[in-house]
Amino acid sequence: MIRHEYAAFCKDFDPLEKVGERAAKFRAIAERAMCRSGTAKEATDVARLHRPPETEMLAWVHTRMSDRAIRFILKPVVFAASLVPVLYWPWAASMHQLNVNPFNAIVRDTGFWSLRFLCLTVALTPLRWLTGWHAFVKFRRMIGLFAFFYAAIHFAAYIAFDSLREQMSLTLRAMAADAPRPFFAIGYLSLVLMVPLAATSTAGMIRRLGGPRWRGVHRLVYPAAIAGVIHMYWPWTTTYLPRYAVMLAAIVAVRIHKYTSTRASAGTQR
Ligand code: HEM
Repeated sequence: MIRHEYAAFCKDFDPLEKVGERAAKFRAIAERAMCRSGTAKEATDVARLHRPPETEMLAWVHTRMSDRAIRFILKPVVFAASLVPVLYWPWAASMHQLNVNPFNAIVRDTGFWSLRFLCLTVALTPLRWLTGWHAFVKFRRMIGLFAFFYAAIHFAAYIAFDSLREQMSLTLRAMAADAPRPFFAIGYLSLVLMVPLAATSTAGMIRRLGGPRWRGVHRLVYPAAIAGVIHMYWPWTTTYLPRYAVMLAAIVAVRIHKYTSTRASAGTQR
């Protein structure tokens, strides 16, 4: 019975489907096998005999990729890749690839990169649940700090953009006039919410604050990301699909679901 189900699953397999989704479906089949047969044996057999190649790969990554490999290979690679947007601008400027208004291009690009990193930061924990690869959380601090890094350049470029054309005093006056407008106010809110996250990202701060308090502070990443998305789409007159909003809503929904189901199961155990 379970083997039939597995065969149907393989037949329906869409090669473009994400590895994590397929692995999750496969895990669900193995879990059902275990529930129905009442023993772990059939589930283990299914897993051993029919493990899809990607699951094989994930299993290899889970078991073989040591902390040292993550620390000395994967993390530097992710770090270098995260810096590519910064290196792109001087290159693009030297090749005359930036548009007629390079500062405005940098303001927009850095805004997008900050938001991408912020969304990735909140996606890492659901990705860990989906794939079972716990090492995802080891990248959370780095990715989160890159979100802050790009937000800081975004803000600096916004000031520079204006101060190159005007005297600094006029720029400050223009910024003060801009600040109460919803687009800017929400942008400031997002940046301000990221400051305590960046400031408490060190191991020393985790120790000093203690786990629960530190986790409480780091939940600010959600309002920061929501504010970033609202800022980006403001005034929400776009006719295209607000991709970042959809993605963030899905992540928040997954987290709320996990939170409520954990609380419910803790309640039944009491
Ligand atoms: C310090 C507060 C902030 C200020 C003053 C600010 C200001 C700006 C300005 C002037 C633009 C360019 C609008 C244009 O000419 O098209 C912009 C765009 C953008 N900002 Fe911000 N921003 C702030 C914070 C943030 C933060 C924290 C994020 C990300 C989390 C962000 C994400 C974006 C994005 C994605 C865009 C591109 C929007 C588009 O063109 O569709 N901003 N921001």
